Amino acid sequence: MASPTLICDTQAWKDLEAHVEEIKKTHLRDLMSDVERSKSMILEFDEVLLDYSRQRATLDTRDKLFKLAEAAHLKEKINRMYNGEHINSTENRPVLHVALRAPRDAVIQCDGKNVVPEVWKVLDKIQEFSERVRSGSWVGATGKALKDVIAVGIGGSFLGPLFVHTALQTEPDAMECARGRQLRFLANVDPVDVARNIAGLNPETTLVVVVSKTFTTAETMLNARTLREWISAALGPSAVAKHMVAVSTNLTLVEKFGIDPNNAFAFWDWVGGRYSVCSAVGVLPLSLQYGFSIVEKFLQGASSIDQHFYSAPYEKNIPVLLGLLSVWNVSFHGYPARAILPYSQALEKFAPHIQQACAPKQSACMVSMESNGKSVSIDGVPLPFATGEIDFGEPGTNGQHSFYQLIHQGRVIPCDFIGIARSQQPIYLKGEPVSNHDELMSNFFAQPDALAYGKTAEELRKENVPSHLVPHKTFSGNRPSLSLLLPSLKAYNIGQLLAIYEHRVAVQGFVWGINSFDQWGVELGKSLATRVRKQLHASRTKGEPVEGFNFSTSTLLTRYLEASADVPCDPSATLLPRI
Ligand code: F6P
Repeated sequence: MASPTLICDTQAWKDLEAHVEEIKKTHLRDLMSDVERSKSMILEFDEVLLDYSRQRATLDTRDKLFKLAEAAHLKEKINRMYNGEHINSTENRPVLHVALRAPRDAVIQCDGKNVVPEVWKVLDKIQEFSERVRSGSWVGATGKALKDVIAVGIGGSFLGPLFVHTALQTEPDAMECARGRQLRFLANVDPVDVARNIAGLNPETTLVVVVSKTFTTAETMLNARTLREWISAALGPSAVAKHMVAVSTNLTLVEKFGIDPNNAFAFWDWVGGRYSVCSAVGVLPLSLQYGFSIVEKFLQGASSIDQHFYSAPYEKNIPVLLGLLSVWNVSFHGYPARAILPYSQALEKFAPHIQQACAPKQSACMVSMESNGKSVSIDGVPLPFATGEIDFGEPGTNGQHSFYQLIHQGRVIPCDFIGIARSQQPIYLKGEPVSNHDELMSNFFAQPDALAYGKTAEELRKENVPSHLVPHKTFSGNRPSLSLLLPSLKAYNIGQLLAIYEHRVAVQGFVWGINSFDQWGVELGKSLATRVRKQLHASRTKGEPVEGFNFSTSTLLTRYLEASADVPCDPSATLLPRI
C-alpha cells in the first residue's frame, strides 16, 4: 500500500505550499475576530477540550490538511497499525501499544493471534504480585514487608513511568493508596544517581524492579548489578530472589542475571520502548506504588483516546488535528520547535517524556531524538523537507519567568497550553481575590492571547510609554498556540493525555511518510562507548597508555585518568556509595 512517492510531490502538499503564502499575510488578531471560525476550531471528546483557533490557519487550511492526510493514506496507515501489520518495517515489527490498554474482551490480531488475552495475563499477574507486596504477604529476606521500590531502567523504560508517577503523586486517590510507600527511578549510569536512589533506603524493605526491553542496555545492566550488590552485601546473595524482579521481553537474560523467571513480567517486541509505559514497564512499578486499580484507570483513559483516534472523523479527531497542525507548522510555516506548557506542576515530567517520543532530526545540526527524528522516508529515500520539531517545555508559570521571553519577542514557537479545570490540591486563602489554582489558570488563559494579539506601538504610545522604549515593548503577536483543557488530573485523564500525544506523533510520521517507530540513531549510541571502556580498563589495571584515539580525545582521556588516579579502582573489591 505504501507508495514510494514522497508526500512533498503530491498536489495536496503543493497546494499547502501556495496556501501558506496567503496565510502569512494574515494576522491572528484578524483571524480571531471571526467567531464562526473560532467556533469550528473548538471541539471536545470525553471531557477533553481542544481549542486550535490560535493556529495560523483558516478553515480552508484545515480542508487542505485533510486532503494532505488523504494523499498520505493516513486512515489506511492508522488501520494498518491497529490491525497489527508490520508497519515498523526496518525492524519488521507491528506497532501495537494500543493493545496494552485494550479492554479485556477486545480482539487485536498480531501475526494471526489475538494478543489481548496475553496482555491481560500479564496485567493479572501484576495485579496479583503488587497486591501481595503491598499487603505484606510477599516479604523480603528478613521477613519485613517491602514498602519501597527502585525501578531501574532508562529511556522509554524510565521516562513514561516517571511522568505518570509524578502526575499521580499529588492526586488524592492515588496518594491515599501510596501512603507509606516510595517509588524511585534509577536511570543514569552516573554513580551519583545510584547514591541518590539508595539514600535513606534499607535493602531489607526495598524491592528493585529491573526494567529493560532487551535486558542488554549497558547503563541499566550496570545499575542492576550495582543494586544486586547493594542487596547481597547487606542481606546475602540469596536475598536477591526476594528483592529483585524484572520487566523484559528477554526472559532468558533475566534468568541468567539471577532473577527468578516467575518474578519476571513480560512484554513484547511489538511495544516500542518509548511507547511502553502501558506495558509492565509502567504498570508494574506504578501498581506497586498506587495499587492496580488506580493504574487500570490510567489504562482506561488511554484506551478511550485509542478508540476515538481509530474511529472519529478527521474534523472531530483530536490526535489527527494535532498531528496535522504540527505538520502545518513544521513543514509549511517552517517553525522548528514546539513548546509543551502544562499549567500543572504534576505534569512537570510530561515534556521530558514527550521529547523522546516526538523530538526530531531535521538536519545534522538539529536536536536528534526518537520517533520523528528521521531524514529518510520509510522506503529509505532522503527527504527534501524537514520532519519533527524540537520539543521542550516546563510547567507554567515557571516557564513564564524564563524562556517565555523568547516565545513572546524572539523566535516563533508554536505552543501547547495544557490546563486542568480542577486542581488535584485546591488552596484558597481567605481574603485573596481568587483561589491559587485560579491564579495559575489566569495565566493559562492570558498567555495564548498575548501571543496571538501582541501589542502594537500605537497601543504603547496611547499608554504614554516613552518613545525610546516603544520598540522594546512592542509585541508582534501572530504567534500560534493551541489549548487543551482537561477536567481534572486523575489517573484516567493522565492516560488520555499520554495517548493524545502518542497518536499525534504517529499522525505526523504517517503524513511525512517516515518510520516513527524505529530509532537507529539511538541504537548507535549504545555501542559508542565500547572502545573507550576497553581503554579505561587497560589503563587503570595495567597502566597502558592511551592509544588509537585522535589528539583531542587522547588529551582528554589522559587528563581524566591522571586527575582520577587516586580514586579506588580495584576490580576485586566492591565500592558502594557511602550515603
Ligand atoms: O533510549 C533508546 C532506547 O532504545 C529506547 O527505545 C528504550 O526505551 C531504551 O533504549 C532502553 O532500552 P531497554 O528497555 O532495552 O533497556
